[in-house]
Amino acid sequence: MPTLLLLPGDGIGPEVTAEVRRVAERLFPEMSLETRLFGGCCYDAHGTPMTDETLALAKASDAVLMGAVGGPQWADVPRGLRPEAGLLRLRAGMAVFANLRPALCFPALADASTLKREVVEGLDIMIVRELTGGVYFGEPRGVETLADGQRRGVDTQVYTTSEIERVSRVAFELARGRRNKVTSAEKSNVMETGQLWREVVTALHRREYPDVNLEHMLADNTAMQLVKNPRQFDVIVTDNLFGDILSDEAAQLTGSLGMLPSAAIGAPGLPGLYEPIHGSAPDIAGKGVANPLAAILSFAMALRWSLARPDLSDRLTSAVSAALADGARTPDLGGKLGTVAMADAVLAKL
Ligand code: IPM
Ligand code: MG
Repeated sequence: MPTLLLLPGDGIGPEVTAEVRRVAERLFPEMSLETRLFGGCCYDAHGTPMTDETLALAKASDAVLMGAVGGPQWADVPRGLRPEAGLLRLRAGMAVFANLRPALCFPALADASTLKREVVEGLDIMIVRELTGGVYFGEPRGVETLADGQRRGVDTQVYTTSEIERVSRVAFELARGRRNKVTSAEKSNVMETGQLWREVVTALHRREYPDVNLEHMLADNTAMQLVKNPRQFDVIVTDNLFGDILSDEAAQLTGSLGMLPSAAIGAPGLPGLYEPIHGSAPDIAGKGVANPLAAILSFAMALRWSLARPDLSDRLTSAVSAALADGARTPDLGGKLGTVAMADAVLAKL
């Protein structure tokens, strides 16, 4: 029996994951569901954003679905114990090095984007973000006080050949099943890691994926091209930090951050980590108005990538699309439905 670990987390996380639970119980009743505290709420209860027991359970599950972490009430918690630190520890602990962040414009939502309909209609981009390396984890890091009393902050951007290769391989494989194009984004014009990134991707492409169209693009230009002509992209592969930024930008192209799921995967056979891209949204938490679709679509990704049920994944995605086509809208999409009512609209289509 497959198992899914739910980590509702903070802010709107518990609200949107409660709807995932309802959808999962309807769609895939054979699956067993576990729930654990994670993030700020876990820090409040246990003094750490993630317990060792939770990490062990995550690694022993088939998939993990996380809601959201963080909020202003934990702003003064020491960095290593912040909710976000728990998330980084979970990603690293599960070794999910490839983060798949699709930016898909549902036909019914083409007018919800801040960009013109003709620019975003039919948009279907997959951002593959490196997730367990780079400046998020590089050492040394920290803030020190210098002899003259100034303070000096250091972060380290670092990548090895194998880290670049394994995430690029995921991008090339995905492209083969899509429109066969990979754009590799880095700053090889100023960064050593960017130069290495470009060389390693080029060599891997020549060796193993000569049939895929590969293009190199500087990350700043990629940011610009994303708003200028986003449909030129198919798969974008990039490092942890650029991927963080470019995926928020790509999400907004589709109308709402409340729509976009993500999957983080590692070596074949290991559990994946699924998260809506939106954050904990403290401003609307507890009001019952958060859009549950990003979380529900994250579950759809889990069904495909970790739970071996692509059939159920397609059914769920079609149900979301059909609910949107009927006009179901939460406030972020310009509508009035609450979190539960939006999930009801999806359930009605299942
Ligand atoms: C994301 C988030 C996280 C990140 C935060 C919450 C640590 O912005 O998943 O994109 O920076 O990776
Ligand atoms: Mg982010």
